[in-house]
Amino acid sequence: MVAALTPTSPDDPEIERIAAALAGPGWCVSTGFLDATQVQGLVLEAQRRWQSGEFRPARVGIAGTLALRPEVRRDAVRWIDPGQASGALGGYLARVEALRQAVNRRLYLGLFEYEGHFARYEPGAFYRRHLDQFEGVQYRQVSCVLYLNDAWAAHDGGELRLYLNSGETLDVLPLAGTLVTFLSAVFEHEVLPTARPRLSLTGWLRQRLAAAT
Ligand code: OGA
Ligand code: MN
Repeated sequence: MVAALTPTSPDDPEIERIAAALAGPGWCVSTGFLDATQVQGLVLEAQRRWQSGEFRPARVGIAGTLALRPEVRRDAVRWIDPGQASGALGGYLARVEALRQAVNRRLYLGLFEYEGHFARYEPGAFYRRHLDQFEGVQYRQVSCVLYLNDAWAAHDGGELRLYLNSGETLDVLPLAGTLVTFLSAVFEHEVLPTARPRLSLTGWLRQRLAAAT
């Protein structure tokens, strides 16, 4: 009889690195998570949906109390349907699924599904400091923010600012291919005002819900 082994994803070591970091400090910045071709496929899909008017001003809160709060957030979002995804989006979601399984093996969070949206911030847009878990509603467990912007520089603004447990902050440029993951219940964060249009694919690994959202 051998001791139970933790299954790994030998073909995708970055997934295991992220899962280990989520179990450790609780956050991870993964530069180059996607390569330029994969990013380009996602950019094209987002642009197609943007041009056909499918983005809507993002709202704040949970089902029933969702409200437009332009003083809090000013991005526009297009929710994705994971069941309909193919191409670059399907490829990305397959890795998110591998991450879901890897995190469940280490953290026993009972992650059950993924929800996500493309988000576009126009120049001047921001998202003030917040937590992705809502009070009394804990189904969002792991935040996964994937950036889709070429050649981002510090003067372009739009950094993700993570408030770490140490009291320090970490600013991340929203540079194409970078994936930032963190425990949704733990880390407050904000999007600093951007000077350029800023595109991302933001989502959450969730626990199963008793009530519908
Ligand atoms: C969010 C969010 C961060 C980012 O959509 O909840 O915090 O960097 N996004 O886009
Ligand atoms: Mn957030």
